[in-house]
Amino acid sequence: MERTFAIIKPDAFAAGHAGQILSRIYSEGFKIVGLKKLYLSKVEAEGFYAVHSARPFFGELTDFMSSGPCVVMALEAENAISKWRDLMGATNPADAAEGTLRKEFGTSIGENATHGSDAPETAAFELGYFFNGLELL
Ligand code: CMP
Repeated sequence: MERTFAIIKPDAFAAGHAGQILSRIYSEGFKIVGLKKLYLSKVEAEGFYAVHSARPFFGELTDFMSSGPCVVMALEAENAISKWRDLMGATNPADAAEGTLRKEFGTSIGENATHGSDAPETAAFELGYFFNGLELL
């Protein structure tokens, strides 16, 4: 079993899509081992996305991620990292396959409904950024 970190981003939460996304998470066979609704500050969003701090879209990305509430989750499944990335679809909803979350709920490369860790090292950092061990028992 593997764990990954996931976010229902502010665009999808504000649009009322959290319930449908959680339903897909269950129906695809993930176990939700941690879940909370948060309203990130700009500084918290900058810390989370620090790996992208040199990118031209960093300001836009962190403004958006601190623009409203989101839902952060720890998901468990076999090959959870790739399984969740497959369910999300391509980063840009315009390129995402039919049936993926970003195709259904994303509206642009910035407002793309969901986030997921891209590797075991990032999953460890991202899970630890939002959850302590007792919250993931
Ligand atoms: P995410 O998986 O959360 O990881 C980094 C995010 O940066 C990514 O999803 C996109 O939402 C965002 N992103 C990537 N490229 C761009 C871009 N060119 N303009 C705005 N946001 C971007």
